[in-house]
Amino acid sequence: MDTRPIGVFDSGLGGLTAVQALRRILPEENLIYFGDTARVPYGGRSRETLLKYARQDLRFLRSFDLKAVVIACGTVSTTSLDTLQKENDLPLVGVVEPTCRRALAMTKNRRVGLIATLASVRSGAYEALLRTLDPAVEAFAQPCPLFVPLVENGRFRPGDIVIETVAREYLAPLLRKDVDTLILGCTHYPLLEEVLSAICGPGVTLVSAGEESAFELKRLLTAQGLRTPPDRQGSAEFYVSDRAEDFEGVASLFLGEDIHHMARRVDIDQY
Ligand code: DGL
Repeated sequence: MDTRPIGVFDSGLGGLTAVQALRRILPEENLIYFGDTARVPYGGRSRETLLKYARQDLRFLRSFDLKAVVIACGTVSTTSLDTLQKENDLPLVGVVEPTCRRALAMTKNRRVGLIATLASVRSGAYEALLRTLDPAVEAFAQPCPLFVPLVENGRFRPGDIVIETVAREYLAPLLRKDVDTLILGCTHYPLLEEVLSAICGPGVTLVSAGEESAFELKRLLTAQGLRTPPDRQGSAEFYVSDRAEDFEGVASLFLGEDIHHMARRVDIDQY
């Protein structure tokens, strides 16, 4: 039994999709979220810059006494997870492996599509792992650089002509490849689930990165005897590197609860 909190971080709002999943799957756990809103988006940046940012994000989170961290950012998971795991002596859960396992469990025709940031697609991490786990699988990747800025600006709802036009253009090449499973390889993308599933149609199963990492964390905490007793309601704290008010507005909409005055700003350059 261990009641210490779990750290969760992302470049911005996207990791809140993992927070939602964690609250559903591990409701008794305390969460500390950091969104690097001053430096979002991460998706077009170099490996060196991403590692530098991820180290700072983690150093900030580790100023709390944590029992584990979820790297709720596909871009950091695809480019920096191994290094961060070597440098840190606490369990770090990324999104790539759990998501690939779920996609392989869902696909019937073994044609899997991946949408992710430019840095994640460039890393080849999702495709490499899919092929290691199942050499017969064919993976098709599409970078979607406009998705994160649109989501961060609240443009993720069905009926929004901008996001729908962009999404149709990004998905068309994957749909032509006849994929039956689509990995949402960036934690911002579950916010687009309604838009994406309307374009893909019922023949394509969407697999979301944040949710699978929450299941993975549950397995890990259980195996290591680190779960909090289930008879309590976990808390959540939110930290960001830019204006808290901006984050609170969109985050409240998305989480479906009022988190105004709950986020605090952190000077991430100090870490
Ligand atoms: N949500 C992150 C990811 O999963 C980062 C996106 C970005 O900042 O570009 O990749």
